[in-house]
Amino acid sequence: MSHKRSSFSGKVGFVLAAAGSAVGLGNIWRFPYLAAKYGGGIFLLVYLILAVTFGFALMTAEIALGRKTQLSAIGAFGSLNKRFSFLGYLASIVPMIILPYYSVIGGWVMKYLAGFVTGEGAAMANDAYFGAYISKTAEPIIWFLLFMGITAVIVLFDVEKGIEKVSKIMMPILVVLILVICVYTIFSMDGALDGVAYYLKPDFSKFSIMTVVAAMGQLFYSMSLAMGIMITFGSYMKKDIRIEKSVRQIELFDTGIAFLAGLMIIPAVFAFSGGDETALGQGPGLMFVTLPKVFATMPGGSVIGAAFFIMVLFAALTSAISLMETIVSIFRDKLGIGRKPACILVFGICVALGLLSCLGYSAWSTVKIIGMQFLDLFDFLSNSIIMPITAFATCIFVGYILKPKALIAELERGGPFKARTLFTVMIKYVAPIFTLLILLSSILDVFGVVKI
Ligand code: TRP
Repeated sequence: MSHKRSSFSGKVGFVLAAAGSAVGLGNIWRFPYLAAKYGGGIFLLVYLILAVTFGFALMTAEIALGRKTQLSAIGAFGSLNKRFSFLGYLASIVPMIILPYYSVIGGWVMKYLAGFVTGEGAAMANDAYFGAYISKTAEPIIWFLLFMGITAVIVLFDVEKGIEKVSKIMMPILVVLILVICVYTIFSMDGALDGVAYYLKPDFSKFSIMTVVAAMGQLFYSMSLAMGIMITFGSYMKKDIRIEKSVRQIELFDTGIAFLAGLMIIPAVFAFSGGDETALGQGPGLMFVTLPKVFATMPGGSVIGAAFFIMVLFAALTSAISLMETIVSIFRDKLGIGRKPACILVFGICVALGLLSCLGYSAWSTVKIIGMQFLDLFDFLSNSIIMPITAFATCIFVGYILKPKALIAELERGGPFKARTLFTVMIKYVAPIFTLLILLSSILDVFGVVKI
């Protein structure tokens, strides 16, 4: 990396920065709709097990790789073994695929925020509102461009610090709001308790390989794994900090917020639709369809709705900024260009890809690639294909080329590494087999060879 490498000020600084970038739409928007769709409690259980085993091992490995080499993804793999530098490139493609569609969702959030501010809250509670909105051609594109534009301007003028400060205040408020909405829904709405049971009690008859595939993809996405981000974060981490402890804290934070978001949305879905399969399985629109209905019945709902969407917008912006920052820094390093041209280039590519995602719901809704419209396709390509490949190759690299010992030395710098056996077994045996199975299942599923 050609630019200066500063470090985070201290232990808390690192955890907060990493958690700040990890917590975003993945937790609030994506986790609840997957949990609703893939069987509720069983999805939650699989997710939690994966988080403390697989997610823990992979995040630990990535941070240790970054801190050991003091380099970001592309440099880190290449510096340890030339043949593995492809892995850094592969990981770097992921943010490029995610950021455009992430910004499309960011645009939806802005639209809903604007709706609550301008007193359109009641209309948004209508079942058909969301579908009608995303199938419009111009409006979602305008909101997407606005979200993308704000992100780009912040990265261009290098003013992330200001946003991060604001987001540190916003995050606790978001958690409080989520709790308020949970308590309100669960205690005042008929049928919500069935939703709580659906979400918390695993129903093993709902288990399928796709539950694991979805949970795994979500784990990568939510914890920003298998895309080089944590390697870069690790490279900025001070040497005397215990990586293990930081990883546990980030995990707890990230999973905690996702868990609460599920508890906020799923019982509400039950209250309004009685846990009907179509309502639970509706996918990306779930939060946007459900929450306005809650706000419509809640005293002071339009103010709470507006406050909620502001907080979500900030969480989304900090993640988008961090995604864009990563891509810009890769472009600068690899093409040897300055911040401004790199920002313009990245902005251009993101606009092109994001437009596809917007149009996939409207003018081009009949265009399907491997059975998916664009947004789903990008989501699938990054979370179900490239991330498992990257995670698999990272495990092979750490497990057999570099050897876990080399990283364990790094992990023991700040004190004892308690989970070393779990780490080694996960990285060498469980995770590689698992990621391969996941990859295979998603490919088979999509090409309809086997319906899993
Ligand atoms: N983890 C983020 C979320 O939950 C999304 C995300 C994926 C991200 N990759 C990232 C954020 C890279 C920052 C950097 O919303």
